Amino acid sequence: DPATTGGGGGSSQGGDTIKVGFSQLGAESGWRTANTESVKANLTKENGFDLTFVDAQQKQENQIKALRDFIDQGVDVIAFSPVIETGWDEVLQDIKDADIPVVLVDRTVDTTVADPFVTWIGADFTKEGVTAGEWVKENHPDAKIFELQGTMGSGAQTNRQEGFRSVVGDNVIGEASGNFTRAEGKAATEAALAAYPDMDLIFAHNDDMGLGAIEAIEATGKKPGVDIKIVTVDGVKDGLQALVDKKFNYVVECNPAFGDQLAELIKKVAAGEQVEKSTIVVDEAFDQTITQEFVDSRTF
Ligand code: AHR
Repeated sequence: DPATTGGGGGSSQGGDTIKVGFSQLGAESGWRTANTESVKANLTKENGFDLTFVDAQQKQENQIKALRDFIDQGVDVIAFSPVIETGWDEVLQDIKDADIPVVLVDRTVDTTVADPFVTWIGADFTKEGVTAGEWVKENHPDAKIFELQGTMGSGAQTNRQEGFRSVVGDNVIGEASGNFTRAEGKAATEAALAAYPDMDLIFAHNDDMGLGAIEAIEATGKKPGVDIKIVTVDGVKDGLQALVDKKFNYVVECNPAFGDQLAELIKKVAAGEQVEKSTIVVDEAFDQTITQEFVDSRTF
């Protein structure tokens, strides 16, 4: 069963408390864990929230069930990070019919429902892919690239792929999904090392899959970061440590710590105030010149 925490049985305590149902898609990566911590640290009782948080364990049916439960509980606002883009039409229509505003978090939806959400907050995934591609084009223009994709059909996968390939698509010689996890990233890289013996650069759609790739590469006696270059997205502490250790070559940031901005948005939405349709979380990018001090000071 999906894990549920927080809430308090679905009844609002006090007139100003905002009842929020948050459906997180899973706990698949360091990024996701940091994002969940940031959400929970900001949607607190002290901040005026009554939060019901449900982890869907990367299963869309769990998310849809959680969203329906939120409708039944009569929450004030529904926030959710959709695991993939499609398949939400019915439940989004039901939420709309129940007159509950939706705040979309991190990933995006592809739906036939008109005006399915009030506002969205997250990163520009396409730009992240472009940034990664530009670094490759500049530094390794002849690279033979294996693309380690995230969860297929997720906004993070489709848009990072699109952005990356718009710059160095001709260099991609193979692809497979590692579902944004370390274990599946490792397994996909093991298979790729056998299938594409001349690959010399991996673009992993997140740090965790890149960390799995390091294990697979080292097991063959090759040197990650040297024999096979690794470019990733996220910039969580473990990823940046791999960069300092010269096993990753370049990391495009995707910052998960936007719970404070999310809390402000939800307050405005609950109060019926006007909000921007989208809020882009600002990202940076890092190469091997970052310092150990910088990594040690990283909070996620
Ligand atoms: O949707 C954001 C992505 O999801 C992160 O890059 C990845 O680590 C997570 O699983």
